[in-house]
Amino acid sequence: MKVKDRLIVALDVPGATEARQIVQAIGEAAATYKIGKQLFTAEGPQVVRDLVASGRKVFLDLKYHDIPNTVAGAVRSAAELGVSMLTVHASGGSKMLKTATEAASQSPSKPMVLAVTVLTSLSDSDLQELGIAGNVLSQVLRLGALARAAGCGGLVASAQEARELRKALGEEFAIVTPGVRSAGAAAGDQARVVTPKEAIAAGATYLVVGRPILEAPDPAKAAQQIADEIAAACQQEATG
Ligand code: C5P
Repeated sequence: MKVKDRLIVALDVPGATEARQIVQAIGEAAATYKIGKQLFTAEGPQVVRDLVASGRKVFLDLKYHDIPNTVAGAVRSAAELGVSMLTVHASGGSKMLKTATEAASQSPSKPMVLAVTVLTSLSDSDLQELGIAGNVLSQVLRLGALARAAGCGGLVASAQEARELRKALGEEFAIVTPGVRSAGAAAGDQARVVTPKEAIAAGATYLVVGRPILEAPDPAKAAQQIADEIAAACQQEATG
């Protein structure tokens, strides 16, 4: 995998105009863009089609969670848009995960299905309130194993979870890690942030970065700096 492909820019902007501006400003420094609920709800599928048509890869982060038939249909629609990656909630259960991965693998574009385990906004006491036995980490590992067994290509996980997931589940799946900041950069509202080096060392395959790039005076330079830090970390892991 090329280093540039490991960086995913979170297009957390309100509309297509802002999205176009930022993608243009980043230029060649990044190739993959995460479109989430804000931008997709505002602009619909055309924003995905436009990005794909411009040669970029799209990670459609809509976190599908519904009955298997409905999720499979949504996955087929996403595949038709040409997305490369998409998310589902692992807590939708085995049947939902399997129909999602089957729908993806039967489509011509075969997007990678990534499972979200436990939202990082939830704490141990939130899980208790929901009637879920065990703590966040045990639930992450449980849902991670479920998603992998159902054929998901990867998981979305914090760096801390990535380390535990790699230990428990091995190397044969992708981990997408948000909450990444260059050394010395502002954390924003992220409670815990890691540097690209720490994320790669923890076992992350792809790194999602939003505000440090979107809000930088020179987004291309900010993206390139993170790509360089990823490259150095990968080199270090390889020689390691
Ligand atoms: O701006 P920032 O780099 O914090 O953006 C991170 C992106 O990753 C946002 O789109 C955010 O919604 C997403 N994300 C996250 N933490 C998770 C899952 C997704 O920050 N646990």
